[in-house]
Parts: sequence; structure tokens; C-alpha cells
Amino acid sequence: MLTLAARMSRAKPSAIMIVADKAKQLKAAGRDIISFSIGVPNFLPGPHVYDAVRDALAKDSGQYGSNRGADALLDAFQKHLEEGGLTGYTRANIATGIGAKHMLYNLAEALLDPGDTIAFAVPYWTTYVDIADILGAKSRLLPCPASQNYKLTPAQLDAALPGAKVFLFNNPCNPTGMVYTQEEIAALADVLVKHPDTWIICDDIYNRMVFDGVGYHNFVQARPELRDRVIHVDSLSKTYGMPGWRVGFVAGPEAIASAVVTLNSNHITNLPEVITAAAVAALTGPQDIPRQRCAEFQAKRDQVLAAVNSIPGVICPRPQGAFYVFPNISCAFGKSHLGRKIANDVDFCNALLDAKGVACVPGSAFGDPNALRISYTCPTAQLPEGLKRFREFFAELT
Ligand SMILES: Cc1ncc(COP(=O)(O)O)c(C=O)c1O
Repeated sequence: MLTLAARMSRAKPSAIMIVADKAKQLKAAGRDIISFSIGVPNFLPGPHVYDAVRDALAKDSGQYGSNRGADALLDAFQKHLEEGGLTGYTRANIATGIGAKHMLYNLAEALLDPGDTIAFAVPYWTTYVDIADILGAKSRLLPCPASQNYKLTPAQLDAALPGAKVFLFNNPCNPTGMVYTQEEIAALADVLVKHPDTWIICDDIYNRMVFDGVGYHNFVQARPELRDRVIHVDSLSKTYGMPGWRVGFVAGPEAIASAVVTLNSNHITNLPEVITAAAVAALTGPQDIPRQRCAEFQAKRDQVLAAVNSIPGVICPRPQGAFYVFPNISCAFGKSHLGRKIANDVDFCNALLDAKGVACVPGSAFGDPNALRISYTCPTAQLPEGLKRFREFFAELT
């Protein structure tokens, strides 16, 4: 009999894409749909990126490139790290790949054997569990409900780390938008120092999207002795409005960067020259677009938060980064919308999409079935209308 590998029975398509696809189908069928579902930034990089691409096309060698990434790209990313407060990294500490997702997959392959444990906070970005499942690793889930601001506490981390080969940390967080303050990072870093057998992966891809002057802080700044175990993951997708260009980075100990390079040599070989040129231009060119977008997202966050917090029973900690709001909507469970029973987050999101044409992702996709995720990067003009429909839906619950 012909069979697939056993790991494929553990692999699932992304739950976020399922909602996005349903919304797309309804739109194609002529429905007026407002999508709060997929986490795309919805802006394009500036003209300097396209100019660099045209230039690179004209000069393209058509050849294989470096498994680690072109020197110009490694240097551009190294400067980007420095601007974010991470100094002392060299080309040997860095590797590039096809987006942060690919980097996370490579890191998991490099660090986790079947049966090993990877610990991370819940709510989590969906792919964390899926990658661990495919590789036969055990996910140790650390619940961080709305009542603790969706943030991990030092005591929780301390209890979770014994026996964990990897701790995966996401700041700012998808799906909650929460950002850890400098003091919170320092307190968690103090705990990490006590557990020397655990690798630390920081998925920091929203690090340029932080609001309210909170700033982006990381464990290495707080406790420099963690540098030998901390691996930073970054990407152009969100910061530069380039999710489809598929450029990701890791920066960390040389052995880790080398492991990623070895996997690259067996998976992808290299990033194409044209993509590399676009990435270098994005990282080294004018930074006004990312800055403007961040300011716009902060204003949109205010609008969304005001709307959800005006609904009686809905609880939503104040997000300070990324472009997500993650309200706890469990007050709706057990109610009905126009006769349609709402037992859980999936029912809620389906009924909301069918009745109001508003697409959100059920919290269960992120391990928290009491909530849903609103991604607020839709065109600015659509946001008030989407929020109005969201409030109406709640008001119509009986
Ligand atoms: C927390 C987090 N990590 C990683 C990724 C993957 O990003 P990329 O497009 O660089 O693969 C995403 C994308 O949504 C994300 O939200």
C-alpha cells in the first residue's frame, strides 16, 4: 500500500487560512465582506524597493547564491539589528531564509528531536503548535488568559522551563498585540538565566510595530549572558509590507546560524538575487513608510479597542503593538443570533461572517477558545463600518 509519512497525519493546514478562504469565497460570490482575518500589513514598500529590483533584474547573474545569504543582505540585517538595540552580531551569527515561518521551522528542526519539549505562552501563533506536531516534539502550553493581560509571568516561566529544550517567545504577540515592558522582559530574563539548558527563540517579527512609547526590549539587552542561548527571528513581512517577498532572518550563536545554513543548503539553497536586492533596499533605504504605518496602526488600535470595550461583557487588555486585538467574547456563548445558537468562538465567527460579512479568526486557532482575533489592517475607510457591524451583531444577541 502507498502511504504518506506518519508525520503528515499530524500536519494541518493553517486555521487562519481557512477563515480567510471562506471570506474570499463569499466576496467572490458578491457579498460585501470586511476582512479582519488575515495578518497582512496591507501596504507596499516604497519605490526604492522596486527600483532596486529593476536594477537587480538588469544585472541578474542567474546563478546559485550563498546558503547563508548574500553579504550585502547579512550586513543590512546586522545594521537593522543594531538599530533595534542588538549589537555585537557579525555575518557568522546571521542566516537568511524564506520568511520567519521558514526560519522557525528550520530552528525547530535544528533544535528539537522527536519527544523533546518546546514551551510557549498561550495564546500562541498557530504555526508554533503545528511545527512542533510535524516534528514529533511536545508543546508545553503556558496559559496566559486575558485576566493576566495575556502575558507570561516570571513564576509561570520558572515552573515551565525544567525539561524544556526550547522556550519560544513572541513579542509583540500575534494574536494578542501585547508587548512586554522593559521591566517585564528583565524579570523574565532573570528567570531564563536560572535555566541554562533551555534554548530561547525570540520571534520578534513585530519589533518595529510598538505603540505608546513602550519600546521594544529583549532578553539579551536585559541579561547579556543569555546571548549564547538566545536566537532572534525577524522578517520583512510585517515591518516593510512585504509578506509575499518571503524574506526572514535568524541572528544568534554561530552554531545556530550554521545549522540554518546547512538546512538551507539542503532545502532552498539561497534567496534569489532579485529578492535579495529588494530586501537590502528595504532594510537600508528610507524608513518613513514603516514609521508612518506604525503610527497609523496605533490610531487604528485606538478605534478598535474603543469599539470592543464599549460592548458590555467583552474584555480586552490593551494591545501595544503588532496589528491585532484579541477580545475575550465568551459573554456571547450560550446566546443566539437571530435564532442561531452560539456555543463557542467558531460558532460566533461563522455567524458573524454569515450575518454581517465580517471575518475574524476564532481564538481556538491560537489556543484560546474564549476570544477572537481582529486584524485591523483593512483599508482605513472600512474599519468603522466593520466595527459598527461587530457591535450590531453583539446588540442583536439574545
Ligand atoms: C508571530 C509570527 N511569527 C512568524 C510569522 C511568519 O512571518 P513570515 O511572513 O516572515 O513567514 C508570522 C506571520 O503572521 C507571525 O505572526
